[in-house]
Amino acid sequence: MKSVIEANQLVKTYGDHRAVDGITFQVGAGECFGLLGPNGAGKTTTFKMFYGSCRITAGELFVLGMNAREHMRQIKAAIGVVPQENGLDPDFSVLENLLIYASYFGMSGSAAKARAIELLAMMQLEDYSQKDIDTLSGGMKRRLVLARALLTRPKILFLDEPTTGLDPQARAWFWNELRSLQKQGTTLFLTTHYMEEAEELCSRILIMNKGRSVAEGAPRDLIKSYVGHEVVEFDIDPAKIDQYIGQIKNKFAYQVMRNRLKLFLRDNQTAADALSEVSSPNITLRKASLNDVFLKISGYELND
Ligand SMILES: Nc1ncnc2c1ncn2[C@@H]1O[C@H](COP(=O)(O)OP(=O)(O)OP(=O)(O)O)[C@@H](O)[C@H]1O
Ligand SMILES: [Mg+2]
Repeated sequence: MKSVIEANQLVKTYGDHRAVDGITFQVGAGECFGLLGPNGAGKTTTFKMFYGSCRITAGELFVLGMNAREHMRQIKAAIGVVPQENGLDPDFSVLENLLIYASYFGMSGSAAKARAIELLAMMQLEDYSQKDIDTLSGGMKRRLVLARALLTRPKILFLDEPTTGLDPQARAWFWNELRSLQKQGTTLFLTTHYMEEAEELCSRILIMNKGRSVAEGAPRDLIKSYVGHEVVEFDIDPAKIDQYIGQIKNKFAYQVMRNRLKLFLRDNQTAADALSEVSSPNITLRKASLNDVFLKISGYELND
């Protein structure tokens, strides 16, 4: 697969703080690649370096083979961006916001207007074209920002938490739009705090923590290698945790969160093996998920 996005040892410092601390990855043409990580991990900073909102401190970035240090203008014309903050102009109507943005890319007149109206219809915002930005709900604003990103028919979309704050129905609708864009050949590069979103959309993800890459791979492979196939969760009397862990620690990977214990089952391990010594009224057996991987990696009290 030909890569259309490449970061090599990318670094961004603010004063002494290394917000992005030497990350390297590639995204293939037509792929949906997800950047995950806790608040402050460096996801938005990484994104901003790709579209010129933030200077690169060190390392290299390429988009569609173009070096971001030399060809930012061409890169901006080839990509669409849904930033974490909407950046809509409240002094202009919905349609005007799109037209002004289009003009930055040399689109004007009836062609720009036709494209804007087409996108408003696609985003189910056609009835709002003359309305003020402030009259839109949070979910409508997100749809408008996606419309804005699509004006130039970009080959690559950068989506920084595209569905944060959306209700479940609006999120499902957004996912469908993204899947259909991907089917048409658009490469998607997104950040999200919703593990379900990453599992649903991304063929590969990179998990960042404190500016560094801590894991990379297909969601299913990461789940298998970091967690296993199933998870048993139960409440345990805090006074008995140490004793119980003493019994199982050589057999099971586990994670403690206050008085709740998670046991990660691998290969042929069964819940019965783990629970033979425990009586808990509140036991759950479920499939391992990306959420388990995330919590494990991003450093809660945990032991393997
Ligand atoms: N303009 C800035 N000046 C100084 N520090 C900054 C600036 N922008 C970001 N940072 C710092 O860089 C680090 C990474 O921030 P960034 O916004 O990239 O995180 P993030 O992974 O996008 O987090 P979130 O999930 O909350 O959006 C944080 O410690 C943040 O405080
Ligand atoms: Mg961010």
